[in-house]
Amino acid sequence: MRHSLALTVNGQDHALELDTRTTLLDALREHLHLTGAKKGCDHGQCGACTVIVEGRRINSCLTLAVMHDGDAITTIEGLGAPGDLHPMQAAFIKHDGYQCGYCTPGQICSAVAALDEIRADMPSHVSPDLDAPATFSGEEIRERMSGNLCRCGAYSNIVDAITDAAEERV
Ligand code: FES
Ligand code: FES
Repeated sequence: MRHSLALTVNGQDHALELDTRTTLLDALREHLHLTGAKKGCDHGQCGACTVIVEGRRINSCLTLAVMHDGDAITTIEGLGAPGDLHPMQAAFIKHDGYQCGYCTPGQICSAVAALDEIRADMPSHVSPDLDAPATFSGEEIRERMSGNLCRCGAYSNIVDAITDAAEERV
C-alpha cells in the first residue's frame, strides 16, 4: 500500500508517495538522497541513523516515514555547511572526534539534541536530583550519548568535543 505524506526536511518541503513500510531512514536516504544519516544496524541499536524530529532525536531506522507526516526534520545536512559549520560540527573537527566517520552524523545530531535536553532541564538516568536544574558533566554526556555507538572507539574525543561545544569554546 502506498501513502502520500509531506515532510519538511532541513527547512525544505517535500511531498512523497511511499510504500507504508518505508522507514524514515530509507525515505531520507533512498527517496530524498540525503545520505548523511547512516544505516548501521537497522535495528535501533547503534544510533548511526539519528536525526532530529520536531526537536527530539530519534533513531530513524526504527520509525516509519508515514508516522511523520507534517513533521519538521533536521539531518546532519541541515545543521551546517562547509564554511558555515554548526558549533558541534566544528568541535568534532577540533577534537578529532571520529576516525572512519560512519557514526559521526548520528553522533553530532544526538549531541546537539542532548545539549538542548540539558538546557531544557530534562533529567537523565544519572541526574542526582530530578527536581533540580540539569547540570552539565562528563557523566551526563556519556549517559545521554549512550545510544550512539562508535566502532572506532573515538569516545574520549567525542566527549571532549561535546564539552567544548557546551561551553561554547568553538
Ligand atoms: Fe538505526 Fe542503527 S541504524 S540504530
Ligand atoms: Fe568510525 Fe565512529 S568514527 S564508527
